[in-house]
Amino acid sequence: MRVLIVGGGGREHALAWKLKQSPEVTELFCAPGNAGIKNLADCINIDPSDIVELADFAENLSIGLTVVGPELPLILGLADEFQRRGLPVFGPNRAAAELEGSKAFAKDFLRRGNIPTARYHIVSTLDQAASVIESGELGLPLVVKADGLAGGKGVSIAQSSEEAQKQVATLMDDRQLGSAGTRLVLEEFLEGEEVSFFALSDGHNVLPLVAAQDHKRAYDGDEGPNTGGMGCVCPATNLNAETLKHIVKDIVNPTIKGLANEGRKYQGILYCGIMLTADGPKVLEFNVRFGDPEVQAILPRLKDDLLPLLLEVAEGRLGQHRPEWTREPAVSVVLASGGYPGKYETGKAIHGLEEGKVELDEGICVFHAGTKEVDGKLVTGGGRVLTVTALGQNLKTAIARSYEGVARIQFEGQHFRKDIGQKALAHITGG
Ligand code: AMP
Ligand code: GLY
Repeated sequence: MRVLIVGGGGREHALAWKLKQSPEVTELFCAPGNAGIKNLADCINIDPSDIVELADFAENLSIGLTVVGPELPLILGLADEFQRRGLPVFGPNRAAAELEGSKAFAKDFLRRGNIPTARYHIVSTLDQAASVIESGELGLPLVVKADGLAGGKGVSIAQSSEEAQKQVATLMDDRQLGSAGTRLVLEEFLEGEEVSFFALSDGHNVLPLVAAQDHKRAYDGDEGPNTGGMGCVCPATNLNAETLKHIVKDIVNPTIKGLANEGRKYQGILYCGIMLTADGPKVLEFNVRFGDPEVQAILPRLKDDLLPLLLEVAEGRLGQHRPEWTREPAVSVVLASGGYPGKYETGKAIHGLEEGKVELDEGICVFHAGTKEVDGKLVTGGGRVLTVTALGQNLKTAIARSYEGVARIQFEGQHFRKDIGQKALAHITGG
């Protein structure tokens, strides 16, 4: 079968690496791909948001499955166009993808379904925002969220009412994030540790996969600005089997069912961003795609062929066959450009990678995120540049091995967190 992957980051490199191992995949394409993906797939120069061109390509080449990495094409209706043409696609349609496309929609949906989440108000004028803030009803700190897609920049945590008002004005008046900030969610601050939970659904059936723990802040000790994710541990160690059951029963199942009842059939991977609070797990956000760098830590642990699972979802016949995972935990460390998530330079030569290979050593994989080739040389091309994933007999070994991999790679200005996995380790050792 010919398979097309849409996207060109670390997540798509990991998907390409795993799908390439499937005996059923005869040819792999990626739009647009990156300098790492091109060693596994034919990279084609189509923008992920160019839905019609992607559908034409899939139709002309008789692509048997298209796997969508990023959220934007899904929110724009890629799956609807593919389904209209009878092309198998992995990823939810526009109506279901609104779960990530609009935070206000997601919050109201959670409320309708009685699914645990932070208390909130949706506001669309400065006056409405001021009255919610002044009432003090949601307490402090107060979380201010832009409704629309904001590339990870849409959430801020205000410590005082003045700070909250200022943030509201930046979004509504100054239009810092454009139309994403015309409507805002003001939300109660939740205390706890975060976990990313993943489940597959074909619209009716749900297959829970795994939990992973991302590290979203830029610097060690969870300091600094929010990023797309600086590193990840899989499986997460901060929740027990009972909490996992609770997440499936009280969050994942009612979400899929609630969407179906509203005519929003969810076919794809559901990523639940969850805060583990003293009152139990609560939804922080939904994403309608695999996490990045979560999937770089998830897929190296998956023993099964990925293709049949994704096909079952796309064709609406997801079975209850639970995939097998290696017992070894995985740790992924992101190597970023200096300055990320703010301004950064690109075009820096990358040293230490073996040409064309994902495996740096046994059990250590390097996935390309923001890389490109210039004059035959590998250089940096984005904020998050590479993800190094290692498996280990235990978490401590996995951490050590991933940092061994990191130490072999150099580029000017490189930045990475040195404490990926330490929080997870503390849960095991009780320290
Ligand atoms: P989101 O895009 O909604 O996941 O928000 C980005 C990050 O902001 C999350 O990963 C959390 O770290 C933080 N965050 C969002 N909502 C809340 C909340 N209600 N309480 C505490 N932290 C939050
Ligand atoms: N790692 C966070 C995300 O994929 O949104």
